[in-house]
Amino acid sequence: MDERVIGRSGQRASVVGLGTWQLGADWGDVDDKEALAVLEAAVESGVTFFDTADVYGDGRSEQTIAAFLRGRPGPDIFVATKMGRRVDQIPENYVLDNFRAWNDRSRRNLGVDRLDLVQLHCPPTPVYSTDEVFDALDTLVAEERIAHYGVSVETCEEALTAIARPGVASVQIILNPFRMKPLREVLPAAEKAGVGIIARVPLASGLLSGKYTKDTVFPANDHRTYNRHGEAFDQGETFSGVDYESGVEAAVEFADLTPEGFTPAQLALRWIIQQPGVTTVIPGARSPEQARANAAAAALPELSDATLAAIDDLYDRRIKDQVENRW
Ligand SMILES: NC(=O)c1ccc[n+]([C@@H]2O[C@H](COP(=O)([O-])OP(=O)(O)OC[C@H]3O[C@@H](n4cnc5c(N)ncnc54)[C@H](OP(=O)(O)O)[C@@H]3O)[C@@H](O)[C@H]2O)c1
Repeated sequence: MDERVIGRSGQRASVVGLGTWQLGADWGDVDDKEALAVLEAAVESGVTFFDTADVYGDGRSEQTIAAFLRGRPGPDIFVATKMGRRVDQIPENYVLDNFRAWNDRSRRNLGVDRLDLVQLHCPPTPVYSTDEVFDALDTLVAEERIAHYGVSVETCEEALTAIARPGVASVQIILNPFRMKPLREVLPAAEKAGVGIIARVPLASGLLSGKYTKDTVFPANDHRTYNRHGEAFDQGETFSGVDYESGVEAAVEFADLTPEGFTPAQLALRWIIQQPGVTTVIPGARSPEQARANAAAAALPELSDATLAAIDDLYDRRIKDQVENRW
């Protein structure tokens, strides 16, 4: 699979990575055996980049990755984790002593001395404008707790503020055919500054696969049930912030645009891969089959101008007004 440089880190990532929130919690049940099988399928398909967080299953996702990588020969896997959401979401918590403690817990969970990349996990907005936060992150690099740091953001404004910080290696942001605003300013700014872009929620939580109907029922312990209106965390993380019923209708139209040899999910991934400035796209997978199908999107042909124009038109008609004023 093609690899691209993750911005200022100088390290490389497969263009399709793997999101591992599913292997922690919040997506119904995934047992340990299935979780390991998902990681195996991804790596066998050429994936060399995993995205995780200290809060996914309160460490379960990180620990599963460690169990998978332990003693495993073969390609080096770059593991990006995140920190900051196990405590109250107030700027006062974003200080060096907490960072050290959070890093040390992730190092234990992942079984490594130095973390490849640590991302601030959608912190309160003022954190991005606080010099001391970035000084502290530089200290973690100097102490060799972490090799690189980045941010995971909710809004385009937060992304632009972070890109201006010289030590930020990467920005993780929601980008998909139902979330296009980052194309206008964020991706060009990142490319100019040499900052990597990690595209998350690429399938709009699965909506873009076209497989759900208005009658689909998700498990009670799945955020697509309990966070549909932003009850537990930012609404933008669930179905990309698109209202479910109108999202299902738009997904039917999206599926109609699928070229031969693609699935709708692969159309979404391929659309993201070919946006200038994107480093890697990190679909979450709940089964080995999904992981394999997602990795295969990397080898599919470029989308035609006609398909791109039709996706733009769908977004303008059905989605833009729902999301652009918020994120
Ligand atoms: N704040 C943050 O930093 C943040 C927030 C959100 C996500 N993330 C990261 O981004 C990753 C990706 O985002 P996400 O997992 O939220 O959303 P996503 O990748 O848009 O959607 C994942 C869901 O799509 C469905 N799916 C996956 N592959 C499929 C395929 N080939 N065919 C059909 N359906 C498929 C599955 O749904 P079913 O379960 O219904 O099969 C899966 O659970 C996460 O795993 C996490 O690592 C970070």
